[in-house]
Amino acid sequence: MNVKIALLGCGTVGSGVLELLTLQRESLEASMDLHFSIDSILVRDKARYKEAPFENLLTTDFDELLKGKPDLLIELIGGIEPARTYILKAIEQGCHIITANKDLLAEHGYEIFKKANEHHVSIGFEASVGGGIPIIKPLKDSLRNGGIHRIEGIVNGTCNYILTRMTESDKTYQEALSEAMASGFAESNPHSDVSGLDSARKLCILSTLAFSKRITPKLIYTKGIEQIDYENIQLAKSNGLKIKLVALAIHFDQKIYNAVRPCVIGPNHPFYSIDHEYNGIRLYGHSFGKIQLSGKGAGKMPTASAVFGDFLDYCHGKSDKVLSYSGDKDFSSLQINPEATRWILQITKTPSADELGRILQTFSDHKLSIHQNPVSNGIHLEIEDFLESDLIERLSLLREWCPQINVLPMLYLN
Ligand SMILES: NC(=O)c1ccc[n+]([C@@H]2O[C@H](COP(=O)([O-])OP(=O)(O)OC[C@H]3O[C@@H](n4cnc5c(N)ncnc54)[C@H](OP(=O)(O)O)[C@@H]3O)[C@@H](O)[C@H]2O)c1
Repeated sequence: MNVKIALLGCGTVGSGVLELLTLQRESLEASMDLHFSIDSILVRDKARYKEAPFENLLTTDFDELLKGKPDLLIELIGGIEPARTYILKAIEQGCHIITANKDLLAEHGYEIFKKANEHHVSIGFEASVGGGIPIIKPLKDSLRNGGIHRIEGIVNGTCNYILTRMTESDKTYQEALSEAMASGFAESNPHSDVSGLDSARKLCILSTLAFSKRITPKLIYTKGIEQIDYENIQLAKSNGLKIKLVALAIHFDQKIYNAVRPCVIGPNHPFYSIDHEYNGIRLYGHSFGKIQLSGKGAGKMPTASAVFGDFLDYCHGKSDKVLSYSGDKDFSSLQINPEATRWILQITKTPSADELGRILQTFSDHKLSIHQNPVSNGIHLEIEDFLESDLIERLSLLREWCPQINVLPMLYLN
């Protein structure tokens, strides 16, 4: 088999993919009778790659690259445009695709897979969620009929790193963010990470595959970590809990709830020990029970290895040509958690006796446990089996009664 490869992008992940292809060439040629060539590499600025061993393969002209009639296009430039246009053009020419681009798949996955189906080409996208964690393939293959009804994920390493550092080193949000930037765990513009958008886009991909419905980012209730401050972390910590950004999808009847939101994690939940840049994804299925995968959710070599796995699948003829990205819009999307669940309400400033009375009165018909932080005097209130719709109603009452107190409600996973 001879494979002509065109690579779009040679940055963090692209350079890792080149390294793996170079390293594995001999053994692949010997064991699989596979011959491949990297014919062309698209970048924006050739000057940045002066004296690189692949300098002669560089181009800034996509149409020129496509004229070389590659069999396989590996897209690692990221972003929506021009990646979308390039991929669609390549598909029309019968080119198979591998991409790590979660932004593009979350926003335009349906369009891309529809076109791929029309032109009988495959799309490999293992690297789009969870970096080196193999989650896409199990969702498409072995777990496909497992009756998945719930997904929980820590899918953004930047947020997990920031929250971990705030917890273990008593840093403020700004201090932990600066540290994450300095050590390469956050980009210079971290907006899409800390706002929850990146997690929401990854959840779109997981949820679409798991439930065979067309889930788009606008259907996902999204809240990031920017409002989590030092006091919130300290209150959780003083109760033996951690705060983490969780992507959550729940399916029941024809309804699907998708959310990205900071949650309080108890010590019995496996996410409690997923710290720093690590990611974790937990699937709940009617037939298989619970499965959890964890590992490095980003980085040059973990992500490159997921791309390389897709490359091997393509060479083995294993990449499916079937539309695996559903177009089914027949479901109700919920913005409010449908389950009666546990909640933690954090009030970081000491309430007055009157305010405390109001708080207790608001939730008096429910099983409550209240903890007061001995240092900050903040209040940490736990409520069992409570519907989010009821919670919203009672919190709005409370805000009317005590407009000056700031209550942060968080889902409690334990
Ligand atoms: N980094 C990770 O850990 C990670 C993890 C999972 C998924 N991903 C995904 O992998 C993809 C690549 O990420 P990365 O971190 O490798 O990005 P990166 O380091 O910024 O590299 C991007 C590469 O693409 C080229 N490029 C960007 N825009 C281009 C354009 N319009 N035309 C031609 N070339 C262009 C850049 O060329 P110049 O250098 O000339 O600008 C550079 O070579 C993204 O979709 C990202 O979401 C990354």
